[in-house]
Amino acid sequence: MMNIILFGGPGSGKGTQSARLIDNYGLYHISSGEILRDHIKRGTDLGRTADSYISKGHLIPDDLMISIIEHTLDTEAKDKKGVIFDGFPRTIPQAEALADLLKRRNSDVHAVIGLEVPDEELTARMLNRGKETGRADDNPETIEKRLKVYHEQTQPLREHYIKKGQYIPIDGTGQVDDIFHSIREGLREKTGAEASKS
Ligand code: AP5
Ligand code: MG
Repeated sequence: MMNIILFGGPGSGKGTQSARLIDNYGLYHISSGEILRDHIKRGTDLGRTADSYISKGHLIPDDLMISIIEHTLDTEAKDKKGVIFDGFPRTIPQAEALADLLKRRNSDVHAVIGLEVPDEELTARMLNRGKETGRADDNPETIEKRLKVYHEQTQPLREHYIKKGQYIPIDGTGQVDDIFHSIREGLREKTGAEASKS
């Protein structure tokens, strides 16, 4: 079993690189943002609650997010070879809860891939995607808030995972394929895992 956290600011390429990781390592993808957007689309109670936070660029409450991830681990992700966590954890309490959830399932976090991209590029990518896909939180006001929340609440996790020896820093700028190559190298060094495709 190999559990990987894909860590990085909004628009850093977590979703893009997850697709390649799933394909190459046979892992199950848990994207906290996609789960929430799916609820919003289906108009569930959870979706309405999530929308009230997401539309403002705020994080949804830790307890709620943790219970969603726990449920996913025990249903869709059960019996999988391992999981890519994309967008979770985003706070220290979420990181502690994840460590505990995995420990209780006799597992652990094996690596944290940190996609490092300057804010100006993150903003440009999200504005571009907002125009192309209409994603609701990709507007100038919400993007500014998402970046602020990232620096205040999520970035401290970088130090947290560096201290644990689990963090793999990756330059998240440049070509998508080159970034994936760096991720593969980093994972091989940290965990010994080899991609199935070359
Ligand atoms: P979430 O869905 O996780 O959004 P995010 O972190 O803001 O990240 P994005 O999905 O916008 O970007 P990404 O890193 O996946 O990049 P992507 O590959 O798409 O969260 C949304 C909201 O949900 C949060 O704000 C919060 O409210 C809530 N939420 C989620 N998780 C939560 C949690 N754990 N706790 C509490 N609340 C939570 O790429 C971005 C764009 O750039 C794309 O258009 C892509 O094509 C392009 N791109 C990718 N790579 C490159 C490259 N190398 N060069 C140029 N362009 C590139
Ligand atoms: Mg994403």
